[in-house]
Amino acid sequence: MLIIRKVSELLDYVGERRQQNASIGLVPTMGALHKGHLSLVKRAVEENGAAIVSLFVNPTQFNNPDDLATYPREEERDFRLLAEAGAAAVFAPSVEEVYPDGAARAAEHVFDLGRAAEVMEGIHRPGHFQGVAQVVSRLFNLVRPDRAYFGEKDFQQIAVIRNMVRSEGIDVDIVACPIVRDSDGLALSSRNALLDSAQRALAPEIYRTLRDSVPFSRTHTVEETRDYVTGRINSHDGLEVEYFEIVDARTLEAVDNWEESPWVVGCITVYCGKVRLIDNIAYRTPNN
Ligand code: PAF
Repeated sequence: MLIIRKVSELLDYVGERRQQNASIGLVPTMGALHKGHLSLVKRAVEENGAAIVSLFVNPTQFNNPDDLATYPREEERDFRLLAEAGAAAVFAPSVEEVYPDGAARAAEHVFDLGRAAEVMEGIHRPGHFQGVAQVVSRLFNLVRPDRAYFGEKDFQQIAVIRNMVRSEGIDVDIVACPIVRDSDGLALSSRNALLDSAQRALAPEIYRTLRDSVPFSRTHTVEETRDYVTGRINSHDGLEVEYFEIVDARTLEAVDNWEESPWVVGCITVYCGKVRLIDNIAYRTPNN
């Protein structure tokens, strides 16, 4: 596996692979890899001639400086896992390499991310999705991937990236991959590494509640289901729901009743101590 630090090397590598007619799958990550990331890499390896993984903790998408400072970084371990997973190359650049004119200059380009960026994370993490769009569009413009892979744990992020791709006219297939969970149900996240042992024992209650809320929702209204989830999670000392929204999965607009959309998803953010965890669950899907 090739380790690439410089944009010029990345462009050379992509050019060579294209000359060999290899399709390219890109997996953008911020490192501290877990099995969720590796499932994206596995899929990119299976579906493309070359899978390129980016490892870059993007400062422009952190609205909280503490969150950026404490974000886990484990580059050597990540390289080993990616080589084992069959990635052809990893792009692990410096901030200067990604934003040669400075992050402030990059922020001058305001992306049209649609309504999907204005709800949930858009309210609680102002500027976050503009930062995500900055780095993802930069990666797309450098790599020009055929396909790019994202995990459904960040359900809203996928909708926002699809809007960004549409508004910027970027030709790439966005592939959404299912959430990977630990055996106790906790959605895998790089942030799980920041949980102490008591918090780690408590955190699976988030998914247990979401899971139990699905049969509950069959006999209760949207509002009652919302109250059930927030009430049960908040009843645990050490867990605090930041938001829980039940939304139309296609628009991310909140729904008031189950019949409003064939595809309804509950999106949650919970503070477990200081660690911010997100998860989601489908209540209705177009197939059932
Ligand atoms: O989902 C993430 O890890 C990040 O938001 C992404 C897409 C790699 C952009 O920095």
